[in-house]
Amino acid sequence: MSRRRKIYEGKAKVLYEGPEPGTIIQYFKDDATAFNAEKKGTINGKGVINNRISEYVFSRLSHIGIPTHFIRRLNMREQLIRQCEIVPIEVVLRNVAAGSICKRLGLNEGDPLPHTLIEYYYKDDALGDPLVSEEHIACFNWASQEEMQDIASMAIRINDFLCGMFAAIDIRLIDFKLEFGRLFDGDFSRVILADEISPDGCRLWDMKTNEKMDKDRFRQDLGGEEEAYQEVARRLGILQNDD
Ligand code: C5P
Repeated sequence: MSRRRKIYEGKAKVLYEGPEPGTIIQYFKDDATAFNAEKKGTINGKGVINNRISEYVFSRLSHIGIPTHFIRRLNMREQLIRQCEIVPIEVVLRNVAAGSICKRLGLNEGDPLPHTLIEYYYKDDALGDPLVSEEHIACFNWASQEEMQDIASMAIRINDFLCGMFAAIDIRLIDFKLEFGRLFDGDFSRVILADEISPDGCRLWDMKTNEKMDKDRFRQDLGGEEEAYQEVARRLGILQNDD
């Protein structure tokens, strides 16, 4: 384990070379960051829970035909994934106003949006991941038009599916972030869902109490992060400590 090659270390995950060509091991850390890493901390056991939640969500999505990088979970903190080239765009889906859109457009947190919004942010830590339009993406060739069509249609399907999945366990999906990657096959490539889907990158509110069950608890110093992540996992029916 200690001998394997580290490929990349991000804020919440580490990527290691996988056992076979074209594979990578994705390791989930307990580290938490917010506001472009201006705030740093740890949420005990977060990596273990996010590994399980992301495994669950990616498996459910692959059952509805969304191609993903997920192959299988290896242990408490690691999963085997397909190697892909990350498209440098963060895709944010919003069903209810919260977070940066409130500041940007003067909305109140919790305001319903007339319809689901899809936003794109250019992945660049030094620039603070700026909001960009499809024009920018085309102009700077960050993704082709065909790729953007695939990304948008997958993102909308994912949102529809996840809204229903969470509603069934009394959780409202306020917004979330997706990342996509290119999977190469000779000269061709196709876009697949990558990264993770967990309470780190989603806003999840309890349907009855509006209590926050996601990383906003850490961002806003509300406390109870561990318990909130555990509760999401529990409602999804994901068992703990069974490895
Ligand atoms: O901060 P903002 O309101 O734009 O975030 C929208 C959604 O995207 C939130 O669910 C947040 O957790 C997620 N996000 C993320 N990583 C980022 C930016 C946003 O997971 N770098």
